[in-house]
Amino acid sequence: MLKLIEQMLDKVLVNNDNFLLHEAMRYSSLNGGKRIRPLLAIASGEIAQAPLNTVLVVGVAIELIHCYSLIHDDLPAMDNDDLRRGRATCHKQYSEAVAILAGDALQTKAFELLSSDKLELDLATKVKIIHYLAVSSGNQGMVGGQCIDILSTGNFLTMAQLEQMHMLKTGALIKASILCGYLTGTTYNADIYNNLELVATNIGLLFQITDDILDATANTVTLGKTANKDLINDKATYVKFLGLKQTQHLATTIYAATIELIHQLPHHTSLASLCEFIYTRDN
Ligand code: IPE
Ligand code: IPE
Ligand code: MG
Ligand code: MG
Ligand code: MG
Repeated sequence: MLKLIEQMLDKVLVNNDNFLLHEAMRYSSLNGGKRIRPLLAIASGEIAQAPLNTVLVVGVAIELIHCYSLIHDDLPAMDNDDLRRGRATCHKQYSEAVAILAGDALQTKAFELLSSDKLELDLATKVKIIHYLAVSSGNQGMVGGQCIDILSTGNFLTMAQLEQMHMLKTGALIKASILCGYLTGTTYNADIYNNLELVATNIGLLFQITDDILDATANTVTLGKTANKDLINDKATYVKFLGLKQTQHLATTIYAATIELIHQLPHHTSLASLCEFIYTRDN
């Protein structure tokens, strides 16, 4: 599966003309990400028996948005990080201006891909997916969460605000991966969709909680990004507000509840494995 994802990313991000913008887009996308979002889309596509080539396009489009979000997240005005996926961040390798533009172009590339004939779906479903992804990426989703993150740096948040921030900045795209993956399927069922929505919300939150834990516990080489960066930047994280032990306990509770829900879904094997991976991962 990973190979198919890498191949499609490579194809979508052609650089025939050796243009620096294209080089930067490729540099920040073809560089060893875990590809969790496309894998989640494929896994939830399996629940609705989605054709692989269709769900793959959706997963790759979401990965492009994710890669753009990482480039901008690392900028000096945001988290100011030098290291991403074990390499210099985009703005360190190129320049801030090129990094901003590469991020912008990756975002629009995602919507170019979804609206093209490469996504073989009926028009109504296509528009539904594009709309869902646009909402999940923008002010009501990832960008909104990132803005709360920036504004809350160094400040006190309530647990409800912290949860909201995590659900938006990271949860929204994870949730979109799972739900849009399901929507590409051929056996849509409203009850299953509703159950999957809860699963997707939980997995999204769990993903950022484990990211907070790893920032505080893993080393820079394993992470491929600077360890302890949240502490250095005085970020609002679960570890800051609950402490490490309670955060780990919360992750276990969410994982256990979510895996139980997943087991009630049909054809859930891949989604269950990915949920376990998200809970136990080391980077
Ligand atoms: C890191 O995401 C940023 C967050 C949203 C927490 P990933 O942990 O999925 O990063 P890659 O894509 O594998 O590098
Ligand atoms: C980032 O959260 C979420 C995004 C939308 C990119 P973090 O700032 O914690 O992600 P990392 O730790 O830098 O990957
Ligand atoms: Mg950040
Ligand atoms: Mg960051
Ligand atoms: Mg982090």
